[in-house]
This record gives sequence, structure tokens and C-alpha cells, in this order.
Amino acid sequence: MTREIAAGETVLAVENLGVRFGGLVALAGISFEVRAGEVASLIGPNGAGKTTAFNAITGFLTPSEGAIRYRDSRIEGLRPNEIADLGVVRTFQKTSVFAASSVFDNLLIGLHRRGGARLWEILLALPRVRAEEARLRAEAEEILDFVGLSARAGEPGGALPYGEQRLLEVAVALAARPSLLLLDEPVSGMNPVETASFMAMLGKIRARGITILLVEHDMRMVMGVSDRVVVLNQGAIIAEGTPEEIQANPEVIRAYLGHGADRRAVGRA
Ligand SMILES: Nc1ncnc2c1ncn2[C@@H]1O[C@H](COP(=O)(O)OP(=O)(O)O)[C@@H](O)[C@H]1O
Ligand SMILES: [Mg+2]
Repeated sequence: MTREIAAGETVLAVENLGVRFGGLVALAGISFEVRAGEVASLIGPNGAGKTTAFNAITGFLTPSEGAIRYRDSRIEGLRPNEIADLGVVRTFQKTSVFAASSVFDNLLIGLHRRGGARLWEILLALPRVRAEEARLRAEAEEILDFVGLSARAGEPGGALPYGEQRLLEVAVALAARPSLLLLDEPVSGMNPVETASFMAMLGKIRARGITILLVEHDMRMVMGVSDRVVVLNQGAIIAEGTPEEIQANPEVIRAYLGHGADRRAVGRA
């Protein structure tokens, strides 16, 4: 049994996390926390180390130094599926939908990660997995409804408009029953209407008690949905605070200007 965690309690603690790629220091010993029930955002210019931090937290790379704690477990160096089993699930910056599989089968692939049956057994509908399959199918329908993709269930993932492919990725992540969901630039490439509906869906995910760690360049979204913002620049944390504090922080504005982004990227100017 997992111990209950109260809202506001630290669920993820990144401690002195360092990642090197050969001579390149991608993360220079960063520390930050994520608290139960919040939306925390990790922002920073391109190349700051945001995706690298996600990769280390979710087991896609082994850090050079430091510790990562999730609830009561040390998770650095565990494999991605072991970390997902603990409830830490991520989406990818680049779209990861199975283009030739139907939207529904994309979800079954996500669901099978938790179930006892193997994916091929489910897809072949072997007798001994039929009961489980019925349960998974019901759950897939429920999740598709939740993200608003029910009408697309039979279409190939690759046939969906870009914004809906990104929604499908979130649906697949939800199928793994996360308690901490990491989203890597989920609205990049979305139009303003798609972004607005994505923000509404984030609110619904949060209302389910799922804690969210967000990497995102769309500052209106970050400032609109986040309880707390952590700012990375060149592998180091340069600021941490509420959206209001971050928008008023001169060092943050300098970091973005130094990378050629325009001022609106951070402040409301
Ligand atoms: N697998 C890798 N091998 C070598 N260098 C990498 C690798 N992944 C990321 N980097 C480098 O690490 C730095 C941080 O990259 P990344 O975490 O992707 O930044 P962000 O997501 O903030 O844009 C960049 O300089 C990038 O080129
Ligand atoms: Mg990135």
C-alpha cells in the first residue's frame, strides 16, 4: 500500500542533479521540488536542460550525479517502466503517436503497460485475456471521452490534426494512471483555440488529483496554469517562484533576452 500524501507535501525531490554529455554540462547540479496537487513549471531558453531533466526523472538517462526521490523511493537510475509503475509518467516533446494504429489501439498500448496481459495478447483477443480486455476497453473509452477524442477512436493516430495527436499522447499517458504527470511542451504547434482547450483539460487532470510538472514555451499558458515556476538557464536554476514573481524577475528577463527571444516571452510588458 502506498502511503497517502497530503496536498502540498513534497512528492518529487530533485537533489543536486547533474547530467553531462561528454564535455557538455547539460545540468550542473540542480535542486527543486514538486508538491502534491500542484502544477509546477520548468521553463528556460532552448538548450537550458529542461528535456534532460525530464529524461533523468523518468529514467531515460542516468544522471552523472545527484539524487531523485519520488515519494519514498530513490528513482535515479531506475528504468522508465519501473518509474512509470511508481506513478511518474511523461509525454515527449516530439510527437510519439503510433501513426498506423487507431486512436483506440494507441490507448490500449498505454493501458497494457499496467495490466497483466501483454499487448499482443490483447490485440489478438486471446480467451484468457478477454475479461481483462473488456475492462481495458471500457477504460480506454472513458479516457478518450475525458480528452474529447471519442469521435476519433477508429481513425489512425497519424490521420489526426496535430493538436489532437498531442491530446492523444496525454490520453496515453493518463492510461498509465500517473500520480505525477510530466508534460514536455504539450501545446507547441497548437493554435490558440487548441491551446485554450488544452489548458482547460489540464485543469480537469489536476482536479483528478494528478500532480503536474510542465515544460512549456507558451508563457501565457505557463503563467496561467502554474502554482510555481522554476527557471533553468544553461543547466542551472536561476529563479523559482510564483508566476508573478518570475515575471518581475530581472535575471529571468535577461536570460530570455540573451537568447534573442522578445520581451513578451516572459513579461506581460
Ligand atoms: N543525448 C544528448 N547528447 C548530447 N547532448 C545532448 C543530448 N541531449 C541534450 N543535449 C544537450 O544538452 C543541452 C540541454 O538540452 P535539452 O535538455 O534538450 O534542452 P531544452 O529541453 O531545455 O531545450 C543542450 O545543449 C543539448 O544540445
Ligand atoms: Mg526540450
